[in-house]
Amino acid sequence: MSNDAILLIEDDAERTAQMRAVLNFIDDAPVRVCTPAEWSEQIDDQTLKAVVLGSSESLTLLPKIDAHLQQESRKLPLFLLGDGEAQAERVLGRIPYPPNYNTLITALHRANAYRDSRHRMNGSAAELARVLVGRSIGIHQVRRLIEQVADTDANVLVLGESGTGKEVVAKSLHYLSSRRDMPFVPVNCGAIPKDLLESELFGHEKGAFTGALTTRKGRFEIAEGGTLFLDEIGDMPMPMQVKLLRVLQERTYERVGSNKSITTNVRIIAATHRNLEENIADGSFREDLFYRLNVFPIEMPSLRERPEDIASLANELIRRLGEMGRGSFQLTDAAYTSLSRYPWPGNVRELANLMERLTIIFNGGIVDYDDLPERYQMEGVSADQSFAMPEPEENPFPCIPTSLLPQGEPTQLPADGLDVKEHLAGLEMGYIQQAMDAADGVVAHAAKLLGMRRTTLVEKMRKYGMQRVE
Ligand SMILES: Nc1ncnc2c1ncn2[C@@H]1O[C@H](COP(=O)(O)OP(=O)(O)OP(=O)(O)O)[C@@H](O)[C@H]1O
Ligand SMILES: [Mg+2]
Repeated sequence: MSNDAILLIEDDAERTAQMRAVLNFIDDAPVRVCTPAEWSEQIDDQTLKAVVLGSSESLTLLPKIDAHLQQESRKLPLFLLGDGEAQAERVLGRIPYPPNYNTLITALHRANAYRDSRHRMNGSAAELARVLVGRSIGIHQVRRLIEQVADTDANVLVLGESGTGKEVVAKSLHYLSSRRDMPFVPVNCGAIPKDLLESELFGHEKGAFTGALTTRKGRFEIAEGGTLFLDEIGDMPMPMQVKLLRVLQERTYERVGSNKSITTNVRIIAATHRNLEENIADGSFREDLFYRLNVFPIEMPSLRERPEDIASLANELIRRLGEMGRGSFQLTDAAYTSLSRYPWPGNVRELANLMERLTIIFNGGIVDYDDLPERYQMEGVSADQSFAMPEPEENPFPCIPTSLLPQGEPTQLPADGLDVKEHLAGLEMGYIQQAMDAADGVVAHAAKLLGMRRTTLVEKMRKYGMQRVE
């Protein structure tokens, strides 16, 4: 486990002492304690492992903390101590009071798994495929672009609808670059009030404006040597756009209230769901800034453009929920089929929310077509059509990358190693494709050729996003 700290927000001495005693005994992480009034000074520390909300007063802070983390796109696990009523997106669990060794150690494991599933990438292509899930051509292309540009200092602009995974792309770029051990610092340009954005980005000197009680580092300074992710750049007000452009050109900036220039070395990744060219046309985005940022654009396809990714994404999201100790469930084929026909206006985020909801309702069970919330029950699919697949397209196997198709027998392990699982999956897809061709698309015949049951073959084809031609 890492040595990052746990922050306990608590003002009751007795409860603090109890928590400290057990946490020190576990000896996993340094414990920091602050009062509910001090949370906002403490929570921006990027090395926090988890936050525990202790006193009932701190429970009233929960919506604020949740909104703060959301705005920063921080995945910081939150735990509630005791049994107070509270709900928020980032609450990972409850720790009973008085605390005991077992429940605390489980909570810490969960916090680690939760953070690891998002933060740890060892920089390999296989790892990238694990983080950015999908077998569609669109996602393959995105992964290829990420690999090409990750370890350069080029500015990247990530485009795409809400919830398509723009932040996943930004993080992947960071973790695949040589900056991976330095900070990845996200800023949601749309969520920070206009008049605070400058000091948020560049920091301020003590007394620079009313309320600036202490000198504070800005995000550029916190990200030094690493990556600054400017999310929702399309929402950045014009005056800030001018200032940002200057930093991109000159690589220097000043804290608010100071005239001393600070030189910066950060890699800039920006993202937006807006059409910046339209914003340029209507005068709300600077063209010169656009060209600076758009050195290397990466466009995330919407989920409805890649229905073949829905099953593997759903599986991965269910697996991650299980890993976080949130429970698990299975979807039937009819449920998968229905989901793959739904248009997903909220993209992967909507899918993730649905999976989370289903885990709560059907923990440990099986979710069939009829169990899906009504809007996800698409017409033409029903429970007795368990094996219906999406309509065939012109190219029946558009999502098999040629690199994954069998390339002769591997008699020798290549010098730089081999991802066996991916290789075998490639072989399997290739054989399935050949069998399907030979059987003129009749699954039952193809299954015979492959020595497997029809249902197994259908299951495999669904897993690989292969479509049935009939
Ligand atoms: N290809 C993917 N593989 C695995 N998880 C994904 C993928 N794409 C998105 N996700 C998950 O979907 C959710 C939304 O992704 P993310 O926050 O990156 O989207 P976004 O494009 O930044 O959305 P928004 O515009 O709403 O901020 C996250 O929980 C993310 O982990
Ligand atoms: Mg985002």
